[in-house]
Amino acid sequence: MRTQVAIIGAGPAGLLLAHLLHRGGVDAVVLETRSQEYVAARIRAGILESSTVELLESAGLGERLRAEGHEHRGIYLQMPGERHHLDFVDLAGRSVWVYGQTEVQKDLVAAGTAEVHYEVTDVEPHSVDADPYVTFIDSAGTRQRLDADVIAGCDGSFGPSRAAAAPAEMYERVYPYSWLGILADVAPSTDELIYAWHPDGFALHSMRSETVSRLYLQVPNGTDPADWPDDRIWAELATRLGHGQDGWKLTPGPVTDKSVLPMRSYVQTPMRRGRLFLAGDAAHIVPPTGAKGLNLAVADVALLSTALIALLREGDSRLADSYSDDALRRVWRCTHFSWWMTTMLHTGGDPFDAQLQLSQLRWVTTSTAGATGLAENYAGLPLGF
Ligand code: FAD
Ligand code: DHB
Repeated sequence: MRTQVAIIGAGPAGLLLAHLLHRGGVDAVVLETRSQEYVAARIRAGILESSTVELLESAGLGERLRAEGHEHRGIYLQMPGERHHLDFVDLAGRSVWVYGQTEVQKDLVAAGTAEVHYEVTDVEPHSVDADPYVTFIDSAGTRQRLDADVIAGCDGSFGPSRAAAAPAEMYERVYPYSWLGILADVAPSTDELIYAWHPDGFALHSMRSETVSRLYLQVPNGTDPADWPDDRIWAELATRLGHGQDGWKLTPGPVTDKSVLPMRSYVQTPMRRGRLFLAGDAAHIVPPTGAKGLNLAVADVALLSTALIALLREGDSRLADSYSDDALRRVWRCTHFSWWMTTMLHTGGDPFDAQLQLSQLRWVTTSTAGATGLAENYAGLPLGF
């Protein structure tokens, strides 16, 4: 087989890249180890920055998002006894949208622009410095070779592209806590997301729709979800989110999904080796606090698609040559923001740290300068930052 861009991974980065390349007149083939149903159903991110929404719209993917997504002006930040609203539209001129990664994935599949080979195995990039190709075994069990001008590694943190892009610098921070996340069939008890600092640990009330809530609790690393029956989860969420405070109530409901997420920051540089370009989680991971992972993957792909169209249609390599540096400016900004939100909101048992966190939260919730910094980063910097 031959194509212009061999894309490894059909997550949001891989499928969006294939879609944008198709619109720009460049052929791509996507290879994915999982089934289409599995990829579409994975419960992950839920918040889109305004620049992500604008990009999806300009790529013809905004119709259902505008109809079924929910625009939020901001978030609530909470400490025991205090809940403060930060209005991103007033502070930074931008909003965010609640629209699940599952929905973005469905819209990309429905666009039908990507040629995807699902349920392939043994995917291996080769010869990335000169004449790249990818070998794999297709879903019928036949060994295949896909030759390409360029390989795009969009295969997340466990795919083979990351290692194929080495030698590289790797930067990593592992956090001493995880998130226990639930999806519940119950109307959200809040109009916008609540990020709550609490001495027992962080809690987050998010949502997916008028009838589906998404909530998270800080838990120790190594937590077994089986130790958290639904009643225990709702009781802990009620305590940390302030049920009863100023008449506010958390309404529990049937839990439909429960999982534990470890938290890690990771950046690999450069995001390119020869004819292999990395995008999304293949190059970087952020802890989820602040909802940057999916948005960063989209921002990478916005740059990479433009660079590859210029390279492959006009022979102009300037944007491809600057791709890694251009993408990394935003990657490090979001890496810092996610680390900052995470360390401000998660408790570690050290009383000195707790006082610093509370002081920082008071500053962010009472100073326009402090609130604006959070708003600008959360609602997202313009593409091209
Ligand atoms: P992925 O979505 O990981 O896609 C990579 C694809 O490559 C996958 O489909 C995988 O099956 C495929 N693949 C892997 N290996 C191979 C191989 N060898 N060959 C071919 N294909 C391969 N971000 C947020 O912003 N907010 C959140 O709330 C949030 N919650 C998350 C919860 C969880 C449990 C996880 C894991 C992540 C979460 N994230 C969140 C992060 C966000 O989902 C990711 O940043 C986003 O999915 C990145 O997209 P991607 O396409 O780069 O990688
Ligand atoms: C969600 C996840 C986040 O990490 C976050 O900061 C906000 C929302 C979510 O899954 O809805």
